[in-house]
Amino acid sequence: MAEKIKLSNVLASEQLPAHLARGVIEERLRSAILDGRLPPGTAVRQQEIADLYGVSRMPVREALRQLEAQSLLKVEMHKGAVVAPLIGEDAVDTYALRVLLESEALRQSIPLLEADDIASARSYIEQLENETSHAEIGRLNRLFHMSLYGKASNQKLLRLIENELNEEERFLRFHLSSMGLGKLTQDDHNALVDAAAEKRVDEAVRVLEQHLNNGSRVIRNYLDKQLAR
Ligand code: NI
Repeated sequence: MAEKIKLSNVLASEQLPAHLARGVIEERLRSAILDGRLPPGTAVRQQEIADLYGVSRMPVREALRQLEAQSLLKVEMHKGAVVAPLIGEDAVDTYALRVLLESEALRQSIPLLEADDIASARSYIEQLENETSHAEIGRLNRLFHMSLYGKASNQKLLRLIENELNEEERFLRFHLSSMGLGKLTQDDHNALVDAAAEKRVDEAVRVLEQHLNNGSRVIRNYLDKQLAR
């Protein structure tokens, strides 16, 4: 059972200087969650982590709060923080929401994108072409999308989007091969960056909607098949 996993079996004990503790603890937990060493449902106890790194509970609490904001942890009654599920039945709602949020960010961002933004978007597409690790594909897909939204003026909107993309990235790294999503539809990515480069906002938004709706459909089929098992 996931709940029986002990943090001390997964995370190496380290002596952390107090001023670095919050950031390092956040990073250690984040990568253990993302690469599956700490599966969904694992209890993450403040005192256990504090002992592991020889620090007080304060930086631990701060780190856990950050991870919660990134949807990697959730707080359960009587249990405290646990590793959040990869994706819930609300996955379809999540995608519908993403279409709204990301279309708006793309609209705000495109007029302000500069040549180097477009160049980095294209370089992520190129790296995706040659990548075979699912973890890395999920990460590059997130970075590609964020590079096109990054100039949006609404910072809160960008944070919401980044959280949704983090969630997707986790899901993809475990399920990508079984979903047959290929390289996450690179044709869409190319069309998207071309439209953005030429400041064709409406076209870019249309491509993005299609891209996300397609992803939503693939994930829904996949989840339905899992449930039917
Ligand atoms: Ni994509």
